[in-house]
Amino acid sequence: MRLTKKAAALVLASSMAVSLTACGGGTTETTAAPETTAATEAAADTTAAAEEAAEAAAEVTGKDPSEIKVGISIYQYADNFMTLYRNELQTYLVDELGLTASNIMMQDGKNDQAEQMNQIRNFITAGVDVMILNLVQASSAPDVTNLCNEAGIPVVYINREPDAEEEQRWVDEGIKATYVGADARQSGTFQGEIIAAQENMGDTNGDGVVKYVMIQGDPENVDAQYRTENSVKALQDAGAQVEQLVIQRGDWDQTKGQEIAANALTQFGTDIDVIFSNNDAMALGAVQAIQAAGRTVNEDIYIVGVDALAEVVELIQNNQFTGTVFNDFIGQSHTAADLALEYVNGGEVENVNMVDYVKVTTENAAEILEMVK
Ligand code: GAL
Repeated sequence: MRLTKKAAALVLASSMAVSLTACGGGTTETTAAPETTAATEAAADTTAAAEEAAEAAAEVTGKDPSEIKVGISIYQYADNFMTLYRNELQTYLVDELGLTASNIMMQDGKNDQAEQMNQIRNFITAGVDVMILNLVQASSAPDVTNLCNEAGIPVVYINREPDAEEEQRWVDEGIKATYVGADARQSGTFQGEIIAAQENMGDTNGDGVVKYVMIQGDPENVDAQYRTENSVKALQDAGAQVEQLVIQRGDWDQTKGQEIAANALTQFGTDIDVIFSNNDAMALGAVQAIQAAGRTVNEDIYIVGVDALAEVVELIQNNQFTGTVFNDFIGQSHTAADLALEYVNGGEVENVNMVDYVKVTTENAAEILEMVK
């Protein structure tokens, strides 16, 4: 895998050398000759040819992966999902892409945009080649992008999507900035479909209406809004009558999820058929409240989340949780890292890059658990 990715980067770099030369934009050392030489030698000795191509590419890109410096800031280390994400990102950068651990500067944004701005300024001073940023406030993307662009440093935004206007500006102004994430509308739709697939379509008490509690994430991530809207929409599209009993913000946090669910259960009791949670951490809190209230998941109440935390997938296997949606931190972190290197190697990058979600029920829980554990 490592070789394949490196080889791909080299092919890209050497073809860029050719096109630079063709447009007259290359330096005198940047000629198409190394490719021709490599091709000729390939017949006799492929290894030598590959080595030569690698050297030629290195001349153009000037960066060996072990020398690439990356600045990474995560909006908040305490977030369960982003912990899985950042660990995978670090491992992939070092083990698969060949970066040196000490060249990866990873910081906790502590849910404080001012603190994160300082970290970004420090990355610029430290001369990083590229940044991977999980903004505390997605709305600060224009300022951050301008800061990095002036310093000539490309940025890969992750997890908290800047608005569409900002993403378009990167294209219009030729700014090296991109977003890697997942389309939260899809995760919401999958949540609604999981409930709609139940025999009673979510109506546990048979009163003809699916009455639900919505536990929302922090609206700094559009995931909160999209999951809320699309989960209910999918259930309605499947033909269910729905009624919202409670909607409250739990900021992706387990304790807050527990409190919201406990209060709702006290207030509405057996009227509640379904708890929709914008993520699994808050849903785990809700499961505690459900148990404390003496209710039984999949018998008299349903619960769905998003992320596919291992703990939740295990509950699904034991019929103690209805379903979740895998938020593919593996695919997202690998794409973010690959695109960061693509930038360093002078490649072209699309402005928005989405990784698919996967619906998780008892049918595929074992398979998903293998990946997330
Ligand atoms: C979401 C994820 C949440 C939380 C949030 C942070 O995609 O589902 O659990 O990590 O990102 O922005």
